[in-house]
Amino acid sequence: MSHKAILITGAAGYIGSHVLLQLQSRGEQVLAIDNLHTGFRQAVLSAPLIVGDVGDRELLTGVFREHGIDTVMHFAASTIVPESVHDPLKYYGNNTCATRNLLDSCMRAGVRQLVFSSSAAVYGNPAGGICDEELALAPVNPYGSSKLVSEWMLRDQAASSDFRYVSLRYFNVAGSDLQGRIGQSTRAATLLIKVACEAIVGKRPHVAIFGTDYDTPDGTGVRDYVHVEDVARAHVDALDYLRRGGAAAVFNCGYSHGYSVREVLESVQRIAGSTLVVREEPRRAGDPPTLIARAERIRSQLGWTPQLDNLDTIVDSALRWERKLQREPW
Ligand code: UFG
Repeated sequence: MSHKAILITGAAGYIGSHVLLQLQSRGEQVLAIDNLHTGFRQAVLSAPLIVGDVGDRELLTGVFREHGIDTVMHFAASTIVPESVHDPLKYYGNNTCATRNLLDSCMRAGVRQLVFSSSAAVYGNPAGGICDEELALAPVNPYGSSKLVSEWMLRDQAASSDFRYVSLRYFNVAGSDLQGRIGQSTRAATLLIKVACEAIVGKRPHVAIFGTDYDTPDGTGVRDYVHVEDVARAHVDALDYLRRGGAAAVFNCGYSHGYSVREVLESVQRIAGSTLVVREEPRRAGDPPTLIARAERIRSQLGWTPQLDNLDTIVDSALRWERKLQREPW
């Protein structure tokens, strides 16, 4: 059966661009939209790209009218947690208000399926650090709150109409396209694996460990690092689920086990074959000791089957990309 086109918002960003490639490789009709504030035109490769804001209802109404879209995958967002603390209105504007406008445009145009990029940040600082989807939601920063309010909007809209969505709560997404075409190119990156790869290729003088006195096996923070290609696969599975008539749902997207900061840094040094300058620093405000997904639901309901659940594989792809960026900067 032939399907209509999929609009990918934030398609020039890190996760959106990886999903775009997977959708194209299975022959889906795709249309990319990105305002290119933090995304990169090069990341979109061969898809048609509209440069604009997803919160621009006039633009979106025209796009929906002209391109025969029946599904939206919504990645466009501001994603830097510390920045969200200093500039919360930017996050409520770019993430929550823009999602509201996008949803309004969808409803007016008869678009009834959406896959949403949510985050483990909606859980905040859960006791025990293991998150299942039924856990109380208590974000501890404006980024997490902006995503949670968006989830509530989607839930309420689905309850009041024939609109259906899948919200994917990503854990720590890392790594890059195994073919080396695209990767994480974020400027002023703050995420551990990206930062460590930048340090090992000499783009930074050192990498910091934020806190060595956590109640974890080696005292450093533990996270559920998930390969961006597996995250992308979850979106393809979510699309199939919605097309089969699946009900509105929220799923964690993680491997259900974690690695400490020290383990990550060891992996980076092992893969690179060189040594990092590591500085032990105080804890970063708002960081939980441990954050790990329970992910039975995404496996059983979406049929998600991760293929790259291996820290060294994640780090290897991230490092290859970092080296490529050094040779050919974006
Ligand atoms: N860390 C360091 N040094 C660094 C960067 C990070 O020690 O230079 C540590 C952090 O303290 C934490 C772990 O590495 O223990 C991972 O930190 P990241 O910044 O890579 O990622 P976070 O766990 O803070 O962020 C993730 C997602 C966000 C999400 C957040 C919510 O990437 O999108 O979880 O908790 F909002």
